[in-house]
This record gives sequence, structure tokens and C-alpha cells, in this order.
Amino acid sequence: MARPATATINFDAILHNYRLAKSVTPDQRALAIIKANAYGHGAVEVANAIADEVDGFGVACIEEATELREAGITKPILLLEGFFSADELKYISEQSLWCAIHSLEQIDAIANADFTKPINIWLKMDSGMHRLGVQPADFQQAFDKLKALPQVADIVLMSHLSSADEPELSVTAEQIRVFDTATKALDAEISLANSAGTLAHTDARRDWLRPGIMLYGATPFAQSQALADQLKPAMTLSSEVIAVRDLTPGEAVGYSCTWRCERPTRVGTVAMGYADGYPRHAKNGTPVIVDGQPSKIIGRVSMDMLTVDLTDIPDANVGSYVELWGENLAASEVATYCDTIPYTLFTGITRRVHKKYI
Ligand SMILES: Cc1ncc(COP(=O)(O)O)c(C=O)c1O
Repeated sequence: MARPATATINFDAILHNYRLAKSVTPDQRALAIIKANAYGHGAVEVANAIADEVDGFGVACIEEATELREAGITKPILLLEGFFSADELKYISEQSLWCAIHSLEQIDAIANADFTKPINIWLKMDSGMHRLGVQPADFQQAFDKLKALPQVADIVLMSHLSSADEPELSVTAEQIRVFDTATKALDAEISLANSAGTLAHTDARRDWLRPGIMLYGATPFAQSQALADQLKPAMTLSSEVIAVRDLTPGEAVGYSCTWRCERPTRVGTVAMGYADGYPRHAKNGTPVIVDGQPSKIIGRVSMDMLTVDLTDIPDANVGSYVELWGENLAASEVATYCDTIPYTLFTGITRRVHKKYI
């Protein structure tokens, strides 16, 4: 039998989540963000499964876009970080990729580039995240310059929100105010909202949404939120118990003896470790589900295995099904025990984990 570590990807859940994003502003369009191998879910597989319904895709770089074009994806694909070298522009034009532009230097590079088919540009403003984007004071000039270039087709105005997942803060409203002030004289479509913006910030829902994490069914919020509560998890990470032993009080489990039995304990060893992408720093007590029953990790996660407490699940044995996160256990809950976020859990899944698409 093959090693049972498996990530089962549910396309219906991804479609449901995309539709939920679109439902907040039925007249607007939404790019499905499938960078980083669709957040670990498989970019080509996910793109093929939802291509008929989505308005386009967003990826981080030309390599990710090329993979999709080579797989036959003809829908618009936006390069969210634009080009890294002017050499890429010819291919971007040939493949009709859409291209974010985040600096004045990139505009000069386009002006000096020689390609035939004009490119659709998403001009990005740094409205307060201070990572990428043209400064608000330079934005009008950047827009006018792009507008005048024969190499440029349509222009969408975009910005990225730093704190939309914390709706109680005023940061998002301030970013939107900065953006709107700097763009009020410009006639172009707008894109502001990532998943958290889409779900929680009415004012961020402009012409184009850019949902990422929500497509995969994970909430961007720390607290329950009415729309986010309707998301369906797209990835179930599972494996099986491969060994069982009974220990007595005082005996330790795993590397460095970080967990010791306080009572007679039945320990199950599960074929899932940090080389599969399960976080090594998952704390003692991190939830898992064994044969439908709640259990928890005891002892340190090792490279290929982790250990769980089966004491209260007497019927569990070798071969028992273990859900690490997914349909019955939210990745965001697991993430809190690992001092991380679902994004890193999903993107961390390694190729050794068998992927099953349903
Ligand atoms: C520019 C941009 N738009 C949209 C997204 C999607 O964000 P999220 O996954 O939080 O929805 C990202 C992701 O980091 C991004 O960088």
C-alpha cells in the first residue's frame, strides 16, 4: 500500500467560494488568485476546474503564467508583481498576459520596449502598505504616461490592503481614502479587495475583486464573520495511523521528550511529518480528528511522522483515518496552534503528499 499522506482537493468547494466572492457585488468581476501553485492546491488543476466560470486569474510571476498558458488556459492572467526584467515584456505581449506596474522605472522600461501587441496594465498604488506601488503623489503622472504609450492597451488602477483582515482597525478606510483622493480625476476601472476586503469592506468592492485565500475555504479573519462562515474548505489533509502503543505514566513521546504521559496512554503514530509540510512547531494539543473523533498531537512532529493521543478513542487502530485539517477541522484553527496562518499551511504541502482531486 502507498504511503497514505494525502491532500484531497475539492473543486466544488473552490467554485462555491468563488461564487460567494462574486455574490457580494454581483455586477463586478473577480480574478481567482492562484499564485504559489494555487496556494498549494495545484494551479493547473484548479485553473482547469474553474476556468469556464472565472473572469480571470492572478499569479505572481511569468513562470506561473506560462504553466497555465501551456496547460491551455486562455482566460486573462494578471501578473500581480508585474515583470522582473524587461526581457519578459515580449512574452507578456505575445501571451496576452495582464501586467501590474508598480514603479516609474517599469513604465520607462515599457516605453523603451519593442513589442507589437499592446499590453493590459494594472497600475498599482502604494496606498499605505509600503511594499509595492507607485506613490500617490506620482500616480496621476504615471497614469498619463502609460495612457500615452502605444505599447499599452487598457489600464486598471489597483492597490493592496495591508489590514483588511482586521476590520476593526481604521487602516483600510485610510488606504481607500488615500487611493480615492489620488485617483479621483482618472477614468479607469479599479481593483482593491483581496479576500478580507471582499468579505468585510463594502467600500473596497470595486470593479475587480482579487480573492485568494477565501477560494480555498479558509477565513482571513481571527474571529467568526458572517460571510467567511459560509466558506467551504477545499483541501483536506489526511493520513492514517501506522502504529499503536500503550505507555504508562511518566513515559515520554517523540524527540526531546517534550510530552510525558500523565495517565496510561494509547499513542498512535501517523504517517505525516514536517517533510510533508505539516508544521514542526505544532504545539502539544494541536487538534486532529481520528476516525471522526477529536484527538490531539502529543510529542514533537518529526520528519515523516507525528503522534496522537488515542486513549479516548478505543476503537482507533492501525489504519484509522486521520484528518489533519479540512472538512471537519478548519486549517485556521490548526494554524493558531502552530503560530501561523492557513496560507503557510496550504503552500507548505510538499510534493511527497499524494494529491487527489474530486
Ligand atoms: C496583489 C494581491 N492581490 C490579491 C491577493 C490575494 O490575497 P488573499 O489571499 O488574502 O485573498 C494577494 C495575495 O497576497 C496579492 O498579493
